[in-house]
Amino acid sequence: MRIGVLTGGGDCPGLNAVIRAVVRKGIDGYGHAIVGFRDGWRGPLENAYEDLTIESTRGILPRGGTILGTSRTNPFKREDGPERVRESMETLHLDGLIAIGGEDTLGAANRLHGEHGVNVIGVPKTIDNDIGATDVTFGFDTALQVATEAIDRLHTTAESHHRVMVVEVMGRHAGWIAVHSGIAGGADVILIPERPVDIDEVCAELNRRHATKNFSIVVVSEGCELPGAEDKGEVDQFGHKLLAKRGVGEQLGAEIEGRTGFETRVTVLGHVQRGGSPTASDRILATRFGLKAADLVEEGKFGQMAALRGADVVAVSLEEATAQLKTVPDEWYDVARAFFG
Ligand code: F6P
Repeated sequence: MRIGVLTGGGDCPGLNAVIRAVVRKGIDGYGHAIVGFRDGWRGPLENAYEDLTIESTRGILPRGGTILGTSRTNPFKREDGPERVRESMETLHLDGLIAIGGEDTLGAANRLHGEHGVNVIGVPKTIDNDIGATDVTFGFDTALQVATEAIDRLHTTAESHHRVMVVEVMGRHAGWIAVHSGIAGGADVILIPERPVDIDEVCAELNRRHATKNFSIVVVSEGCELPGAEDKGEVDQFGHKLLAKRGVGEQLGAEIEGRTGFETRVTVLGHVQRGGSPTASDRILATRFGLKAADLVEEGKFGQMAALRGADVVAVSLEEATAQLKTVPDEWYDVARAFFG
């Protein structure tokens, strides 16, 4: 068999571990040839690819980012997009394509399979941890470690200066990073996109805390919207609203300082959370996903995605995985809320 592989959407730590596992199992285990497309869906659209070998993928396990490059290209934004993907696979004599990505890349994979009969297998990645049908995505653990370490560091400077520290973390539609890093870092208030922001309530929590303590940590997901925030209506190729240049952290920090009088500083962690070497846990999960994806291609189980359920890596349908985003349920927020104020 000949198998294509691509990485699409925002990069995340662990992508290279998946590529390495696909190559190792595909070539050593099954005797297949592996072709890597460049920059997500741009690769098959523009016939940009390279052959992947065991030699060319040695040493990439601990490396962040993706050796294949990535982009937020949507193949359905071009009228001939799906046809070009099919043609590209035919020209390269590919029997299957492994698409490693988040909601957008996998959503496109699902449509290419369902509507255009393309032989696709999915592998879920994202630091946001918001893909349905899998308990967790690789990349999340690494981002969580970065955010938690940042909160720990901000704690000591907050305490010394008697300040409120607002930490903006990633999470466009789901607050997994905020809730988990907030719990791990002992945040005093955590705000996530799943719940409306009530600034009066935030300030009440901070005032309550400052009756006995003179510093606080507030963690906010970048996807939170403050009441009355301006919406310019700009969207990306997949229709996601573009986040404001002056992010929610800055807006929130100004509101808190203005209303409480507590000196406030804002830290936006941004892409630091996506960069660098994956944690051991992410390397292992990504490796298991890559091996599973190679198995699914061999078995001809197209339209499926590797997923973690409990301790097991299983196959789930791309349809199910992309039907709905996995957002933070109330029970998780309640764990965090027990420590507010
Ligand atoms: O892919 C997830 C993510 O990291 C989101 O948390 C964030 O909003 C977005 O990507 C940022 O995308 P970009 O790197 O294109 O600015």
